[in-house]
Amino acid sequence: MNEERPPSTYGKCVVERKLGEGGMGAVYYGHHESLDVPVAIKVLPRYLDIKDPEYAHRFFREARLAARLSHPNIVRVLDSGTEGNHHYLVMEYIDGPTCRDKVEKEGRLDWREAVDVVKQVASGLGYAADKGIIHRDITPDNIMIDSEGRARITDLGLAKEAAADRTGVTRTGASLGTPYYMSPEQINSARDVDFRADIYSLGITLYHLVCGVVPYTGSTFEVMTKHVREPLPSPKKHVEDLPDAFCDVIRMMTAKEPEQRYESYEALTEDLDKLLKGEEVSAAGFTEESMVIAHEEPSKGGTADRSQEETQVINPQAPANKTVIYAAIAVVVVVIIAAVTVVLMVA
Ligand SMILES: Nc1ncnc2c1ncn2[C@@H]1O[C@H](COP(=O)(O)OP(=O)(O)OP(=O)(O)O)[C@@H](O)[C@H]1O
Ligand SMILES: [Mg+2]
Repeated sequence: MNEERPPSTYGKCVVERKLGEGGMGAVYYGHHESLDVPVAIKVLPRYLDIKDPEYAHRFFREARLAARLSHPNIVRVLDSGTEGNHHYLVMEYIDGPTCRDKVEKEGRLDWREAVDVVKQVASGLGYAADKGIIHRDITPDNIMIDSEGRARITDLGLAKEAAADRTGVTRTGASLGTPYYMSPEQINSARDVDFRADIYSLGITLYHLVCGVVPYTGSTFEVMTKHVREPLPSPKKHVEDLPDAFCDVIRMMTAKEPEQRYESYEALTEDLDKLLKGEEVSAAGFTEESMVIAHEEPSKGGTADRSQEETQVINPQAPANKTVIYAAIAVVVVVIIAAVTVVLMVA
């Protein structure tokens, strides 16, 4: 095997140790020589480039967008570049655990603590959404708690510009989510996604933090199907004494239809504040009008595996194709009727 050793420096950053590895390559702890600060360096796997020659172009474009974000709840992007054959992103180093680390250590979080984290994340996501950037991969892994106890969103550098999506610029690699937190619309069509997909994933993340488990389990296909079709299991199954208002808020965040979720981050934050103060929430008694949005099951070939670098668009053309087929049948029927009429008239 001709295994290539990863570089030990990336631009002005010297690698000291590996921090972890996710769906998009490895993250290293390093030191930025000229700035004299600790950094986290995300190094992307080379196969992304080989598979998709446009990948590097998109990656650097997104890194530039992310570098413009400046918010107390968003991890700063400091630099990006290519070292040898490896593209990398330099981020502010967060000296603290991810929310997943916290849940693994503590079993589950007190609902008030979890709601406070989610409120901070909503503030960062709201700021990014105003700039046309959505995350698409909100999970407990991508929320860290820094040394001052502040929630910090990582990987907004991998977010896609919402406006670009509509033009199809980000059509490949458009969705990077893991299946456990993925919204029904991401499962059905990676293109029809806006900030409300992040609200859904944030709701599932809240469920995980408070209940200690994700709501939907099974194979990748089963998890995806459950997101699309199965009502959210009550969080009270795991933590009996949760307030009803907590369950109402989480149900509204994770409504199957994006239109039935919170219409803005302001509306969500307002409810989270009320929840913490014990006041009546706008989601009180929330039930979804229609539980099933998908008329088709996710295709078995669909992928949302953590091991895979991108989620494929699952059957996005299906509704359009059906319309075309129906229209074609109608045209054929009209032509046959016309032909029969002409033949009868001639006869
Ligand atoms: N800015 C950062 N500062 C400190 N540690 C970080 C930072 N970003 C990531 N890490 C660490 O590196 C680990 C791997 O991160 P990575 O983003 O590659 O994977 P992930 O978050 O588990 O999955 P995903 O691919 O969905 O983002 C994280 O779990 C975290 O411990
Ligand atoms: Mg991450």
